[in-house]
Order: sequence, then structure tokens, then C-alpha cells
Amino acid sequence: MNTRPDVVISVKHLTGGYGEREILHDINFEVRRGEVLVIVGSSGCGTSTLLKHLIGLLPPRVGEVWIEGENLLATEGEVRTRLQRHFGVVFQSGALFGSLTVSENVALPLGEFTNLPDAARHYVALSLLEVVGLGGSAHRMPAELSGGMQKRAAIARAMVMDPHILFLDEPSAGLDPVTSAGLDALILDLSRYFGITFVIVTHELLSINAIADRVVMLDQQTRSIIAEGTPAELRRQTGNPAITRFFNRKPDPGQTIQTR
Ligand SMILES: Nc1ncnc2c1ncn2[C@@H]1O[C@H](COP(=O)(O)OP(=O)(O)OP(=O)(O)O)[C@@H](O)[C@H]1O
Ligand SMILES: [Mg+2]
Repeated sequence: MNTRPDVVISVKHLTGGYGEREILHDINFEVRRGEVLVIVGSSGCGTSTLLKHLIGLLPPRVGEVWIEGENLLATEGEVRTRLQRHFGVVFQSGALFGSLTVSENVALPLGEFTNLPDAARHYVALSLLEVVGLGGSAHRMPAELSGGMQKRAAIARAMVMDPHILFLDEPSAGLDPVTSAGLDALILDLSRYFGITFVIVTHELLSINAIADRVVMLDQQTRSIIAEGTPAELRRQTGNPAITRFFNRKPDPGQTIQTR
């Protein structure tokens, strides 16, 4: 079964979670080539779990994830490895190795997956650190970087194998608005100039409006998708108060103090 050429990821009837615990139920959506797709949902509703299913870290209980025309779970050995090299991931914790310098961190996957000599690995790492605005910090240790710089370094490391798709889990969590806007600009640049497709989990409405081509919204109660569309479409959506509140940043009346 093949997908349309403009579709990079196709999620079909995915039901998943951990052991007996179902977190996601009958999830269906597509990611198109070159777009920035944002996944949102209240904390704990399963956005990180969905990312783990998408990258093949967690097998779904039911359903399929097709990436670039291949059924991810049905692939094995070399085919699976080749497919997985097409994507880079920055996890929510985004951890860099504390005992390695920033450039050693970025170069690490090259040591694992290529035969490039040391000097070439170093050169690639430095070039990518320039791209993410960290050219001057290559020799520093991760602990010497701010949170925003660490995120940039983690993005550089995720890019080092020249991925077609980047998965980012809450890249701007805990960052001030200016640093967060800087990360948004970086994501847009990487999308524009490198043609990378992004799948990003974020709850920051300003970021969503700035970067998202489309948004998929998960719902904790039904464990499935309750809304899908451009940020503007979702702002205009009137059918479901939870969606309207989220995209217009209004409080839930049930959670405010009622005064007469
Ligand atoms: N390894 C695991 N084993 C069992 N349950 C887990 C595991 N990881 C997460 N969960 C549970 O799955 C549910 C969804 O977790 P997940 O990390 O996907 O949430 P999230 O939507 O990413 O939340 P947040 O926005 O706070 O990061 C939670 O109830 C969590 O307790
Ligand atoms: Mg999460």
C-alpha cells in the first residue's frame, strides 16, 4: 500500500499506550512533505507517547505508521535503520551528554553511523552549530549553556545525519518568550532552507501561530484527535468549546471562581 508522494507520514488507526494501559485510540492523520505539523493536547494526554509511536520506539497495539511509503513496524534490519536515519529527534528532556563538549555531542551520531574521519566529523558539527547560532560555543560543556542554547545544540545533533523529518517534543518549554521566538525562527529557517518536515509538540499558542502549517489536537477524554487544521481554522472553530478556548486563549469557566 502506497501513500501520496506529498505525504511523508501516514498514521492509520493507531491505538497505543503502555502495556494494558491505552493512551491513544484510533488516531488517524497525515504529515505532508515540508510542512510544520504541531501536535497539541493537555498535559498527560499522550503527545510524547504519540511521538514515540511515530518514530518506532513504542509499537502501537493496533494500526500502522507509514513513513516515506514504508510501514515502519513491518520493516526490519537495514531497511528499518535506513528509514530511521531519515529522521532526527529531540526528546522532551533533550539531554546532551554532560561529559562531552557541545561539538562532540553534535558529532556523536556521525561516529556511530558513518566512517567519516575525526576532522570531517568535527567540521560537520561546527557547521551545524553555526547554523543554529552556536558557532562560538562548540568547545563549551553542556552545563555551561543556557536552556535555550542546549535546545539549539540538541537540534543541531538531531540534524547531523541530514534528516528529512525532525521530531521535537516541547522545544520551547521553560524558555522565556524572546528565546522561544528565536527557536521558532530557527525552526522556520530549517524548514525553509533545508526543506525539513517538522513534527512538533508544543503548547505555546504564540509558537503555534508563528510556525504551524497545521495542527493536530489530542483529547484526553476520548484519547483521540478532536481537531485538525491550520491555526486560523482552529481559531474560527465554534463546535467544541475546548478547542475554541485553547486557540483563543480563554479560561475554562469551570476552572474560574464564580462571582455574582
Ligand atoms: N513509560 C511509561 N510507562 C507507563 N505509562 C507511561 C509511560 N510514559 C508515560 N506514561 C503515561 O502515559 C500518559 C501520557 O504520557 P505522555 O508522556 O505521552 O504525556 P504528554 O501528553 O506528553 O504530557 P506532557 O505534556 O506533560 O509532556 C500519562 O498518563 C503517563 O503517566
Ligand atoms: Mg510530553
